[in-house]
Amino acid sequence: MATRNKIGIIGAGNIGGELARLIISKELGDAVMLDIASKENFAKGKALDLEQNSAILGYDGNVTGTSSWKDLEGADVLIITAGIPRKPGQNREDLVATNLPIIRDVADHAKEVCPQAFVIVISNPLDAMVYEFFRRTQSDNNKVVGMAGVLDSGRFQLFLARAAGVSVKDVRAMVLGGHGDDMVPVLSQCTIHGIPVTQLVAKDVLDTLVKRTRTGGGEIVNLMGTSAYYAPASSAVAMAEAYLHDLKRILPCACYLKGEYGYKDLYVGVPASIGGNGVEKIIEIELSSEERTMLEKSVANVSSIVDIVKKSL
Ligand SMILES: NC(=O)c1ccc[n+]([C@@H]2O[C@H](COP(=O)([O-])OP(=O)(O)OC[C@H]3O[C@@H](n4cnc5c(N)ncnc54)[C@H](O)[C@@H]3O)[C@@H](O)[C@H]2O)c1
Repeated sequence: MATRNKIGIIGAGNIGGELARLIISKELGDAVMLDIASKENFAKGKALDLEQNSAILGYDGNVTGTSSWKDLEGADVLIITAGIPRKPGQNREDLVATNLPIIRDVADHAKEVCPQAFVIVISNPLDAMVYEFFRRTQSDNNKVVGMAGVLDSGRFQLFLARAAGVSVKDVRAMVLGGHGDDMVPVLSQCTIHGIPVTQLVAKDVLDTLVKRTRTGGGEIVNLMGTSAYYAPASSAVAMAEAYLHDLKRILPCACYLKGEYGYKDLYVGVPASIGGNGVEKIIEIELSSEERTMLEKSVANVSSIVDIVKKSL
């Protein structure tokens, strides 16, 4: 008998709620939102609101709120948002002390109840949290990825579209490296309907857009007092959809590197093909010497945060 996909969402906060809304509105499967015991009722209330919303908008799918990991048994996909977001003045690294025990708790439960799930980590600092989830669970590295590149590339795409005065649909941008303020917008691979952006947008404008993309998360934190959640949720859902529907989409994701781009035993944002087997291929693109230097700096930063994680074993 055919069954619906089960998609676990860990953390029923801002991103968690938007994830559940997108998952059922796209009819990707049933969503189970898990939060800590003191927020179980909050998760249940959000789930009920979303189910009532589906009755009005006309789509099928169950949403459950829970604090019991039993409800996640057999989940096909797990999307992890558990942890605190940034406040104005904080950088992502400031979250390590709080979010590290949380990701460890989540990893231990996930390993027990849904070891076969395709896991997408969102919690920050992203590259270190996804590394720790993978290290702790010892899962297949192709089934554990981090979400950052789709979001950062989306931000860059929007800024480029506005600057060039074109539809955002025609812009393709790629942001690689770590999910920090030294991420690498790869200008040599950014195009507007196949035309290199460098031919359509002036160099000084591109420089400001690169800077704005790198600090794009902080710009929203300063405005709202907390992190972005609509675009982060859409980005993770694009990755989940690529897996569930075996789309083999090429998406920039934080993937476990085993020598690709010259790095080993680290999660770094790289272009990857996502399909029914998870990360099916990591694509190594040619980088200019300037981009290569930027990537080195970004990876050095990822590595220094992972070192903090390793020291606290
Ligand atoms: N990767 C990215 O690109 C990206 C983008 C935006 C935000 N983020 C990060 O995503 C995370 C979530 O952001 P948010 O805005 O949804 O935060 P939020 O505070 O709205 O929600 C987080 C939820 O996690 C829950 N939680 C805490 N510990 C838990 C545990 N052990 N088990 C289950 N749930 C637990 C909290 O109770 C809370 O409801 C933050 O770390 C934020 O920095 C990442």
